[in-house]
Amino acid sequence: MKHLLKLLDLSSEEIIEILNLADQLKYEQKHGIPHEHLKGMTLGMIFQKSSTRTRVSFEVGMSQLGGSALFLSSRDLQIGRGEPVQDTARVLSRYLDGIMIRTFAQKEVEDLAEYGSIPIINGLTDFCHPCQVLADLMTIREHKGSLPGLKLCFIGDGNNMANSLIVGCLKTGMKVSIACPKDYQPDPIVLEFAKDNPDFQLTDNVLEAAKDADVLYTDVWASMGQEGEFETRKKAFEGFQINDAVMAAAKSDAMVQHCLPAHREEEITAKVFEEHANEIFDEAENRLHAQKAVMVKLMKK
Ligand code: CP
Ligand code: NVA
Repeated sequence: MKHLLKLLDLSSEEIIEILNLADQLKYEQKHGIPHEHLKGMTLGMIFQKSSTRTRVSFEVGMSQLGGSALFLSSRDLQIGRGEPVQDTARVLSRYLDGIMIRTFAQKEVEDLAEYGSIPIINGLTDFCHPCQVLADLMTIREHKGSLPGLKLCFIGDGNNMANSLIVGCLKTGMKVSIACPKDYQPDPIVLEFAKDNPDFQLTDNVLEAAKDADVLYTDVWASMGQEGEFETRKKAFEGFQINDAVMAAAKSDAMVQHCLPAHREEEITAKVFEEHANEIFDEAENRLHAQKAVMVKLMKK
């Protein structure tokens, strides 16, 4: 494994290895056991979109691993003025030991990996959010004991979160059902990956998707960069919400996950959010541990 560009590139074994290492690093951090695997190394973090969790967890993670992280906003980099990503990749490869990038087009991340000579980590594109789903799988496993056979139901937009959840769940032996409006379906590449898998279900019926689910998952109706479409999306996504009726369709011990930030009374009610806040903030915490595992796997010499 040279990069983390998308979960489609990883084998099931590689995903499980990352989750196991994440559990170990979490244990070490909680017990004050030193784990400075990346001493003296530097991670560059390129952000073309906002972030709270991704930025802070990567920066703190690098520091706990004995290295340091540089926040590089596209507003300040020459990339924001049109310097090609191919050149940026070759320049930054001469200074840094790894790059995390959050941007719009998946191609930009793939280009960085092709032209650079250091590990590239995808910190969210319009296509996928692999770091988030590694943290999600870690959290689900922590709460439920093991992953194979569990059913995750995602309700909402068929974009980056849904795309990565489909791949991450199917690769770890979980069942996954997606409830999304007809015009907001997952990416064709992901649907092609999932199409013959009996553990995959795609519907526009929220209650049918939620039936007997062990995990209910949702995300905002309008993602970063789509703010201008909010009014149209608000109509299209009406009813695509985790609420008491949806919880009642799932298993009685179902847990709730949300990548955050959350919009209460849109994709999730405030009541369900608060009742499951512990699981949701465990998930946010696990971004730190899962990403430390990714960085150790990719960057440790
Ligand atoms: N879930 C997530 O990626 O959060 P941020 O946008 O705050 O990084
Ligand atoms: N779908 C959301 C996820 C944020 C973590 C977005 O892209 O804005």
